[in-house]
Amino acid sequence: MGETLKLGLLGLGTVGSGVPLILKEHQEKISQVTGMNISISKALVRDTKEKQTLANDYDFSLTTNYEELIQDEEIQIIVELIGKIEPARSYIIRALESGKHVVTANKDLLAQHGNELVEVARKNHCDLYYEASVAGGIPILRTIANSLAADNIHKVLGIINGTTNYMLTKMVSDQLTYEEALDQAQALGFAESDPTNDVDGIDAAYKMVILTQFAFGMNVSIKDIETSGIRGLALEDISMAQQLGYTLKLIGSSEVKEDSVSVEVAPVMVPNNHPLAAVRDEMNAVFVSSSGVGESMYYGPGAGAKPTATSVVSDIITIAKNIRLKTTGRLFNSYKSQTKLTKDEDIYSKYYFSIDVPDKPGQFLKLTQIVTESGVSFDQLIQQQSDGKRARIIVITHEMTKAQSKKVVEVISNVEEFKLLATYKVLE
Ligand code: HSE
Repeated sequence: MGETLKLGLLGLGTVGSGVPLILKEHQEKISQVTGMNISISKALVRDTKEKQTLANDYDFSLTTNYEELIQDEEIQIIVELIGKIEPARSYIIRALESGKHVVTANKDLLAQHGNELVEVARKNHCDLYYEASVAGGIPILRTIANSLAADNIHKVLGIINGTTNYMLTKMVSDQLTYEEALDQAQALGFAESDPTNDVDGIDAAYKMVILTQFAFGMNVSIKDIETSGIRGLALEDISMAQQLGYTLKLIGSSEVKEDSVSVEVAPVMVPNNHPLAAVRDEMNAVFVSSSGVGESMYYGPGAGAKPTATSVVSDIITIAKNIRLKTTGRLFNSYKSQTKLTKDEDIYSKYYFSIDVPDKPGQFLKLTQIVTESGVSFDQLIQQQSDGKRARIIVITHEMTKAQSKKVVEVISNVEEFKLLATYKVLE
């Protein structure tokens, strides 16, 4: 077989250790499609002793000194799988400035410093690919950038955090409380020991920054994304959603309206007949509405060694082909348009409100007045069985604007005897 392409690997954690495995298992096919022999030359690790067996098994060397990888002129691609911001950012910049191509799965870094890294890659005529940063094993970025390049996307809805989807699934199917579901997710290794980024929706928001760039060519920043996670979500609201024919899912949404975009991450009531409602356990899915294809959904594992390493190796293969064809230095996503955010007054949705009220006459009337004064109309109004002192009222509205929903939340929160328990968008 022809030329050999050497890689330098940064990190040998879950995904890092999956890369040599995929390269070896599918070696023949990879050689055929690239016309190259791709092998790992050296891996940067914190502790060489700990990873020595793995390195021996796959025939590469280990180092704790990044300069060894940079100085090695045979290494043409650096694969960054250490995660977080520093030193990953500096390592990638150093690699690109040394003329090495880069593959990374680092969504935190791309969401916060993506523009900077893309610019350094462009200046140095190097490739920078990051398919594994969104939805792990689902080839969603390449699909949007290439296969849907001819289409006009209006909306992207994603279940793009496996930990929270696993937790929500267990809360519905096994009636687990939030704490019990989190304990299970941690025991199975889905959730980190500090699960903040998963349960508060931050991990999903990072991925929405990247999806929005690919789908709409717009550079939203993380602070432009209203983000709420599933922390403290009540089992009562999950059960109520079920009774009404919905499933609560943590949804990342990005939608264009004329020339502006609105991006959000929040728990959303998804109708049970919507394909996203069937995405269970730790699985991910990205649902795309576009004018050419119409509706399409891309489903698969959002994490895990082999699925994520498969996406990483697909990037390596893309770069290998670019090297052979002498077409390196082009952007992964070359679609760009002016970034403009949609005003709250122009974002429409149905809403679900869950309100705890005193169980005494006149409460329905008071609530009806509040909602009506905000110019909103009811779709459904339900009072759950009370304990004689307090009652839970559920309101599902007809379509209203986000500005109106914020007003309703403000007014209800100011009524001394009312306690607003939950507000969710309702998908149609
Ligand atoms: N913590 C992420 C998840 C892993 O649960 O989906 C992949 O980004």
